[in-house]
Amino acid sequence: MPYQSYAERARRTSCLIWTAAIFCAIIATAVIIAGLVILVIYLIYQPKSPYLKMGNAQLIHLYYDQAGTLDTELQITIMAENDNTKTDAAFYSLSLDLLFQSVTIAELQAADFVVPKNSSVPLGYDVQSTPVPLDPVGMSAMDSALKNRQIPFYLTGRARTRWRLGSLYSVGIWAHLSCKMTFFWPNGSVASMQCSNKR
Ligand SMILES: *[C@@H]1O[C@H](CO)[C@@H](O)[C@H](O)[C@H]1NC(C)=O
Ligand SMILES: *[C@@H]1O[C@H](CO)[C@@H](O)[C@H](O)[C@H]1NC(C)=O
Repeated sequence: MPYQSYAERARRTSCLIWTAAIFCAIIATAVIIAGLVILVIYLIYQPKSPYLKMGNAQLIHLYYDQAGTLDTELQITIMAENDNTKTDAAFYSLSLDLLFQSVTIAELQAADFVVPKNSSVPLGYDVQSTPVPLDPVGMSAMDSALKNRQIPFYLTGRARTRWRLGSLYSVGIWAHLSCKMTFFWPNGSVASMQCSNKR
């Protein structure tokens, strides 16, 4: 009975189309409502991205032998800043590299932590490097740095941050920090410090 069979198929097709249309309409409405909720939350709280800032730094020890082996100790404080007055911020996956020239001397890390609204958390590091061999470029850079009595180091890295609204967390945003720091030698105090939050 071809007629019936066609009619049946047509009915079924139209049923499928309607189901799909209703399903799409529900999804679209849900997306619009979710978008509005996020927009309203954003307008009320106006979250500012949390960021990393350089605090105090000091070169404690520097041993450098004629074979080109460098052994250093630095004290570095990184500030995790949350300028937002209404929301807490979570920092996680923090990782910063300390370099002399292109040689990584040490890696700074932190366990996940929360910075309450409108405050900051200091992360103090006593960075004791293991002896690292410098390449010829690094060796000549260290020779002239010691001659000038100013030792340059470079700190670069990032942490992931999220702001918190009650039990809700935003998506992760990277907070970058790069600093070119120079220390007087032998007293080890900061001679210059240039930092950027750009990647
Ligand atoms: C944020 O902190 C600063 C200084 O710590 C304070 O003067 C200010 O009143 C605080 N703002 C709010 C909204 O809590
Ligand atoms: C360290 O030495 C430099 C130059 O040698 C000097 O300008 C600076 O004031 C000294 N810093 C301290 C804390 O003594």
